[in-house]
Amino acid sequence: MTFDVQQIRSQFPVLAREINDYPLTYLDNAASAQKPTAVMDAMTSQTERAYANVHRGLHTMANETTEAFEAARGKVASFLGAPSDKNIVFTRGATEALNLCAYGLAHMIEPGDEIIITQMEHHSNIVPWHFLRERHGAVIKFVPVTDEGALDLGAYKAMLGEKTKIVSIVHMSNVLGTVNPIKDMATWAHAAGAIFISDGTQAAVHMDIDVQDLGVDLYCMTGHKLYGPTAIGALYGTSATLDKMQPFNGGGEMIEDVFEDRVTYNDAPYKFEAGTPPILEAIGLGAAIDWVRQFSSEDIRQHEMALYHAARDGLADMNSIQVVGTTADKGPVLSFNLKGAHAHDLAQILDKYGVAVRAGQHCTQPLMARFGIHSTARASFGIYNTLDEAERFVEAVRKAARFLA
Ligand SMILES: Cc1ncc(COP(=O)(O)O)c(C=O)c1O
Repeated sequence: MTFDVQQIRSQFPVLAREINDYPLTYLDNAASAQKPTAVMDAMTSQTERAYANVHRGLHTMANETTEAFEAARGKVASFLGAPSDKNIVFTRGATEALNLCAYGLAHMIEPGDEIIITQMEHHSNIVPWHFLRERHGAVIKFVPVTDEGALDLGAYKAMLGEKTKIVSIVHMSNVLGTVNPIKDMATWAHAAGAIFISDGTQAAVHMDIDVQDLGVDLYCMTGHKLYGPTAIGALYGTSATLDKMQPFNGGGEMIEDVFEDRVTYNDAPYKFEAGTPPILEAIGLGAAIDWVRQFSSEDIRQHEMALYHAARDGLADMNSIQVVGTTADKGPVLSFNLKGAHAHDLAQILDKYGVAVRAGQHCTQPLMARFGIHSTARASFGIYNTLDEAERFVEAVRKAARFLA
């Protein structure tokens, strides 16, 4: 389908809103994206037409709901380039997927074993590893970030060794926008005998993902940033890795047999999906994937990066602006500070002009510490943003700077 941003926008009713008498300029996509009518319709029509619990149902609607739910799993598998639907575990989001990785692999960790992450991780790819540090004696090592916002790959290679058991690295940073070379990083981790996990929460929205080509063992994604619903995400795992992982929640569906003295488990992915899953949300995620895949990912990327560059160039002559994350290989995320102003104040003033950005630590305190800053303001672009909006953002920042000076 040809890339027509106005036509795309018409499928997102909320974008017609005004905020404080200004047209809404929604630049908080890295936190959560708006949903097209196709996603909402898929969830509503499933509810209206055939809703029941999934799996093992012996009536028509249970079978139809199961088919729709499992079809959504197939869409996620195809979207990520997984070899089979069986490699996709539904989760409540990327946070749960990352916690599942840490919990599922915890039994392999002995005191002194090393887990390598980076200074640019989201807390959801830090805190679960701290659990393993606290409970199993793991040692966490952080790959340093350069001043431009890239990973220090020399330092990473030097960290890998016999003690490295797990490496877990963000594919695209939610603050810096940096795209990390995870294919190479996975190869090096495997040479050291470690399991390689990547947090693809942001990357899956802005890049073509092929988990087999990347060579990762586990890959996490989320629905709500990909124009899909909240409370749904997915974990891709190679069959060998999923087989090694212990189940997270216990309950219905994840078992094979339950006796008074023992329990046996279902195969992956069901072993990790105890209880009634987020059925409608999974179907909504499938619809979001169908929706986004009608466009060429190259068109999306060029469009979003053009907006990023317009915004960045628009602020380039302002000496008071400090941009954080300036690597060449990056996604459409602009994090910045206005000297002498708190990012929260800046975001509140931008809201007065209808411009929605996020301000704060973005769940990345170690990264903030690395740059010696408390917070940033972050404008993140999505498929439906326009050049007009990038210009409106620049204009609003200039007005805010005059006000805060
Ligand atoms: C890089 C990254 N990882 C993980 C998460 C957590 O995702 P979720 O909201 O699906 O739990 C986020 C959300 O902001 C993120 O940006």
